[in-house]
Amino acid sequence: MDITKAIIPAAGLGTRFLPYTKAIPKEMLPLLNKPAIQYIIEECLASNVKDFFLITSRNKQAIANHLDSDPGLEHSLQEHGKLDLLSSISRIVRAAQFTYIRQSETLGLGHAIWLARHSIGKEYFSVLLPDDIISGKMAGLAQLMRIAQQEKASVVAVQEVPHDLVSNYGVISIKKQITPNLFQVGHLVEKPDPKNTPSNLAIIGRYVLSHKIFQALDEISGYATNELQLTDGITQMMKHNEKVFAYKIQGVRYDIGNPIGWLKASIGLALQNTEYGPHIKKYLDELNTPQSFLYDNNKNITHYE
Ligand code: G1P
Repeated sequence: MDITKAIIPAAGLGTRFLPYTKAIPKEMLPLLNKPAIQYIIEECLASNVKDFFLITSRNKQAIANHLDSDPGLEHSLQEHGKLDLLSSISRIVRAAQFTYIRQSETLGLGHAIWLARHSIGKEYFSVLLPDDIISGKMAGLAQLMRIAQQEKASVVAVQEVPHDLVSNYGVISIKKQITPNLFQVGHLVEKPDPKNTPSNLAIIGRYVLSHKIFQALDEISGYATNELQLTDGITQMMKHNEKVFAYKIQGVRYDIGNPIGWLKASIGLALQNTEYGPHIKKYLDELNTPQSFLYDNNKNITHYE
């Protein structure tokens, strides 16, 4: 089973991040020195997925500009011998192909995925939600692809969440536990009431799906109120004999769709970075200690006369 394509829904308004997102797409939030979308593309490239379909909307041009070549900048970096910087801006542009599809109305995640139906053949493909950044030894998507290839079926990524937070997620019901980290899914529920939730295993934004999802989304689109949910489409797809598995992804997952999650991601990723890590660790260790600059400003004044 070859999985070579990724659909990346990036049409959301980013209201949880206003006013920042008034003119700048939330996918362009910085995490250290790279925009969030670049982490998603790099996760795909590390999983050998190079063909991208981004679902965008108005005011998202900065994403396409970032993922395009910039001959003037590249020439200048080349002339000044800044080859590391040159590679950092041109590597992903050279390695991948990007296609953009516009979603003109916010009709839900299922609708966003459905818009890319003509770009996907009779094949399995991946979906990555850019609000979820996954950091670990093995790329998150590569972990799911391994399971999809092993089971010859669709797979969603899950992690345990605290019981009272299930209403923020799509949640799976467990039909069968196969290994400590692998489950066969019974059905999926989008944002359940904690009182009625089938489990505490929440879907985090990585999927490998059969092309059968498009027919399933078509079938339920007539019943959808407000938004067409991908979760409901996956449950419908299972009625067409497509098995769906859930894999507890190994790694740390950050939800950067809100300011606190984004700050945690910035600090977490900085701590893992060989260049920034020691500085941030020292800064965090010193907060609220007598060594801190913030603790006692007067202490740091030096008189030279
Ligand atoms: C979406 C999906 C939900 C999933 C979540 C993961 O929800 O609909 O099933 O659990 O992403 O981040 P959203 O966060 O867009 O409301």
